Amino acid sequence: MAEQFSYNEKGHLLFGGLDTIDLAKKYGTPLFVYDVEKIRENARAFVETFQKHGIKAQVAYASKAFSSIAMVQVAKQENLSLDVVSQGGELYTALQAGFPVDKIHFHGNNKSLEELRMAIESKIGCIVIDNFHEMVLLESLLAEYDATMDVLIRVTPGIEAHTHDYILTGNEDSKFGFDLTNGQADKAIQQLLAKERIHLKGLHCHIGSQIFETDGFMMAVERLFEKLAEWSKSYQFTAEVLNLGGGFGIRYTSEDEPLPLEKYVESLIEKVSSQTNKYNMVFPEIWIEPGRSIVGDACITLYSIGSIKEIPNVRKYVAVDGGMTDNLRPALYQAKYEAVVANKAQQPSDEEVSIAGKCCESGDMLIWDIMLPEVEANDILAVFSTGAYGYSMANHYNRFTKPAVVFVEKGKDQLVVKRESYQDLVTNDLSYEEE
Ligand SMILES: Cc1ncc(COP(=O)(O)O)c(C=O)c1O
Repeated sequence: MAEQFSYNEKGHLLFGGLDTIDLAKKYGTPLFVYDVEKIRENARAFVETFQKHGIKAQVAYASKAFSSIAMVQVAKQENLSLDVVSQGGELYTALQAGFPVDKIHFHGNNKSLEELRMAIESKIGCIVIDNFHEMVLLESLLAEYDATMDVLIRVTPGIEAHTHDYILTGNEDSKFGFDLTNGQADKAIQQLLAKERIHLKGLHCHIGSQIFETDGFMMAVERLFEKLAEWSKSYQFTAEVLNLGGGFGIRYTSEDEPLPLEKYVESLIEKVSSQTNKYNMVFPEIWIEPGRSIVGDACITLYSIGSIKEIPNVRKYVAVDGGMTDNLRPALYQAKYEAVVANKAQQPSDEEVSIAGKCCESGDMLIWDIMLPEVEANDILAVFSTGAYGYSMANHYNRFTKPAVVFVEKGKDQLVVKRESYQDLVTNDLSYEEE
């Protein structure tokens, strides 16, 4: 993150101990650079806190934040589990990376028959059931394969949290999961418990993302336990697992004040503990699904600066060689980022500029009103905390090629995703012959 960046004697920004200008020269720009030690540190903060408190847990990396074979391998090395979402591509990537199948959890609000087939054939650990349609598909496939499957049921507890805000909604308006209050979840539990080939291990909920406070999580846990107490009486159902999702916030700019990752885990443990005491229940295994908080602040994007347009008394636009094609978040969510000029990292930032992408779209702005040293063409801009939902949301608008991804660790850099070529862009294009 910008506050803590360091630079070498040439005034070049260092990342993961390496000279970012050397990396930009070696691999070209735009370039995603991940500090693997930071990824490991984030993952361990979750895993070790559960261990320290002697709690049986699974920390499932939400691979939607950034999925690639190398990233899945790092998750495996850190003994994480893996959350994959349909479309089957995330599952396919996990299988290609040799991730232990029993630690893969399969999500999605519209899993297709083919995707469920893929999950059964690869013998993944758990499916998170989202809707009644999926229950029917899964049951018929399990009969076809003469197989069984562990599942969690995704419920919507009526709490939506983002950053410092959370809202309570009586009847959750969400495309995901079964509503806890309107009877849908009760009906789903009843049906699942009656299915021979389906083993209902517990509940799943995910209340939002980039959350800085624990209140929303606490309320969600309370709501889950209220229901569990009811279901224990009415259906003799006991949850072996409570999956409380992801959403733990990270620092993008100085406006963000996330809690230490350990704190989220400790609060969850405390709350689950108090609720199990309250209802005299067995302490369940706790699963969580952090995505952003594992990879978000472990990455920077390097861009080359090109055109600079000054509109007197209005603003100075500084354009880079990427934009909404490698980082959709500013356009999609008005997300904010910090950046430095990597080859002028020791120079004072005394000029306000706005960073524009190069797509044919006025909304393609990466950063509004940022203080930088005076920039010129061919400077390298480093944008911080781009590791989550950056590359994974990259797209081909304007026929952009997707950037390369490099991992750095222990003073070494390694290319882990190649830069796409123009040839890659037309690989699936076929010509049209006029009759
Ligand atoms: C079900 C589920 N789990 C986990 C996550 C990961 O969230 P985050 O990256 O904010 O930790 C998401 C994000 O959308 C999600 O939908």
